[in-house]
Amino acid sequence: MSKKVETVMDKIVSLCKRRGFIFQSSEIYGGLSSIYDYGPLGAELKKNIKNFWWKWMVQSHANIVGLDSSILMSPRIWEASGHVEGFTDPLVDCKKCKHRFRADLLENMHVCPDCGGELTEPRQFNLMFKTHMGPVEENASIVYLRPETAQGIYVNFLNVLNSTRQKVPFGIAQIGKAFRNEITTENFIFRTREFEQMEMQYFVKPGTDTEWFEHWKKDRMEYYKALGIHSEKLRFQQHGEDELAHYAAAAFDIQYEFPFGWKELEGIHNRTDFDLKKHQEFSGKDLSYFDEECRERYIPYIVETSAGADRTVLTVLADAYEEQQLEKDKRTVLHFHPAVAPIKAGIFPLVKRDGMPELAHKITDILKPHYNVFYDAGGAVGRRYRRQDEIGTPFCITVDSETLENETVTVRERDSMQQERIKIDGLLMYLFNKIEKGD
Ligand code: GAP
Repeated sequence: MSKKVETVMDKIVSLCKRRGFIFQSSEIYGGLSSIYDYGPLGAELKKNIKNFWWKWMVQSHANIVGLDSSILMSPRIWEASGHVEGFTDPLVDCKKCKHRFRADLLENMHVCPDCGGELTEPRQFNLMFKTHMGPVEENASIVYLRPETAQGIYVNFLNVLNSTRQKVPFGIAQIGKAFRNEITTENFIFRTREFEQMEMQYFVKPGTDTEWFEHWKKDRMEYYKALGIHSEKLRFQQHGEDELAHYAAAAFDIQYEFPFGWKELEGIHNRTDFDLKKHQEFSGKDLSYFDEECRERYIPYIVETSAGADRTVLTVLADAYEEQQLEKDKRTVLHFHPAVAPIKAGIFPLVKRDGMPELAHKITDILKPHYNVFYDAGGAVGRRYRRQDEIGTPFCITVDSETLENETVTVRERDSMQQERIKIDGLLMYLFNKIEKGD
């Protein structure tokens, strides 16, 4: 029997499991379809990606503030937003093999791509997960797990406005879980039923929305480049009239060229005044804004940037993954940007004697409160380098005999594999400059 060829995705998935980045959810019970858990390294990577986004979007803008709204909200919100009625995908079943598909993703909507059988007529399937609040399971107690974080921002528009001194244009950003009962899930963590979004809603004066839309398109592309993603693997894709979500007047995706093709990484949407108007209508609360500059009252337009945290993790992994043939051996390396790398430095005593382990532990203690570093004394230094390369650790610090004489260590950089000698008391600043400033 011929052996299945291992694809790049297979290799990434297997590395993720082997080194503790990502596991199948509920694995010991046979797994739960399209839900994943992040292991020790994956949790660090994802947290660093979310921090990178928060710094870029919130901390670097005086007029963007953060929010952390709840997952469960009044069901009226989802009626107002149009999700109860319109957040659906067309579902078809194969009459022969019983497999299910999203009709809009099929080349031929009548023929099963798996067995060639006849497909049913499409029927609309709502993607929102429902649950019940309180002890009685009746229609009146239905609540939804939010399918996007954005609505939590819109319904807090007045609260934020009244509790901060923000003036239009300003933004509200949040990172949080979203849930969609996807018909087809695919490609590891690319499309899952539970995921995290990093969204920013920018409130602007009507008439300036097109300008701000262009601004945020450009800014978001710059962001991915700053995150170290290869620019030739990023592109914009405009939504055609028939692809636009029910709330959007214009939409562009930022796509990444994954090993399985060009796919959406983030959406940038001009949502006009659709959402605030709907919430004003359904809640009966006045959501208009008085603009002191032009002495006008209006409902702000919203430009939204909506990125998936898990999809960014997959992008960062796929973009960073490389198998290199060196002169004498091979290495697998993840070229993570130092700011998102789960471990910033490996710290090695060259040998387990002459006071080197003690000194290496001392260095670990100095750096640990500031950066996630890892002490490793196991095996030859070459093997220790390889283990760190494979998980994307950008620096390896080695204590050797010269350290005992002049208090310097070697710092080996992951990508170039070049080494330099650094004073122990300069190590923290060295790491700070490389990680925070990219020097
Ligand atoms: N608030 C607008 C909104 O939710 P979207 O295009 O449906 O827009 C935005 O989703 C982003 O959320 C996507 O670009 C993707 O990164 C992420 N996302 C959406 N559905 C996802 C899923 N099932 N699994 C993982 N990520 C998902």
